[in-house]
Amino acid sequence: METEKKKIVFSAIQPSGTITLGNYLGAVRNWVNMQDEFNCIYALADLHTITVRQEPAVMRKNILDAYASIMACGIDPEKSLFFIQSHVHTHAELAWILNCYTQFGELSRMTQFKDKSAKHADNINAGLFTYPCLMAADILLYQADMVPVGADQKQHLELSRDIAVRFNGLYGNVFKVPEGFIPKNGARVMSLQDPTRKMSKSDENVNGCVHLLDTPEVIMKKFKRAVTDSEAVVRYGEGKEGINNLMSIYSAVTGKTLEEIEKEFEGKGYGDFKTTVGEAVVEALRPIKTRYEQLIRDKAYLEECYRKADETALRFSRRTLSKAMKKIGFIL
Ligand code: TYM
Repeated sequence: METEKKKIVFSAIQPSGTITLGNYLGAVRNWVNMQDEFNCIYALADLHTITVRQEPAVMRKNILDAYASIMACGIDPEKSLFFIQSHVHTHAELAWILNCYTQFGELSRMTQFKDKSAKHADNINAGLFTYPCLMAADILLYQADMVPVGADQKQHLELSRDIAVRFNGLYGNVFKVPEGFIPKNGARVMSLQDPTRKMSKSDENVNGCVHLLDTPEVIMKKFKRAVTDSEAVVRYGEGKEGINNLMSIYSAVTGKTLEEIEKEFEGKGYGDFKTTVGEAVVEALRPIKTRYEQLIRDKAYLEECYRKADETALRFSRRTLSKAMKKIGFIL
């Protein structure tokens, strides 16, 4: 990785299941596109996943699968750092510190906390509550200028900025205050079965969520079953959440504008439209699936990549952690 004055990009993804089309269009695709222009640092946020109970064997498999899937999307270990969060101990350490600089009220306002605690009412643990402090630590450790994420992470990102500003206000310039980078297209991919909810790894309805590694047949089936409306006109508008979502996905995958898409499907029915969108997604994901299948067979190569990245990430992040600790008054 070059160390000239390129801006620093940081982002992360939870390996809590297989990677979805939403993760790809909202975040990972931009991670790939930013690699030439910026110093990019990406993490597999495995510490975040234990806020929800995990099966150990499944978790181990998910971590490696997610690592290979993200690499298969086009993350180049020669250009970017892509490491495993739990291997870099500075994250948990700075997270503890930031816990002490974040207010209960701020964390209580996080919509993801409210949603997740409603969903996992039997396990509303402290980690779920303080999760945004770990996320802030991830970002602030690397002095990141920019954080490419989907729209659902905007609130967490704003809190990270608030924490950085507060800390800097107390101790001088310790952390860079990061900017979010939310794409115009694909920032909020919705469930194909309930287009008022975001497409999510944990969707109970299997047809709602497209996974990067789904076979072409499965992808086509999911798109053909996608919920639409009774108007039968491919037009972006109010009350047409299903069609809006399909149009956004098609636009994100092909680069066509919404107007161009409306024109393309003038006089055509939803059946044709859903098939075309499905086919476009299949083609976009085909090379990723092929590359994933090669990578997942080569565990030694994957390990070599993350060990090397883990080491560099530790070296880099230690500088920020030490600076923060010194400012607070720890003896190092
Ligand atoms: P996670 O793992 O839920 O999602 C990873 C990235 O994918 C985006 N995303 C979506 N974008 C569009 N449509 C969707 N349906 C969709 N679903 C997910 C997310 O916005 C995210 O960018 N807390 C984070 C992981 C994290 C992180 C960080 C991110 C940990 N530390 C530091 C940025 C910086 C999360 O759970 O993302």
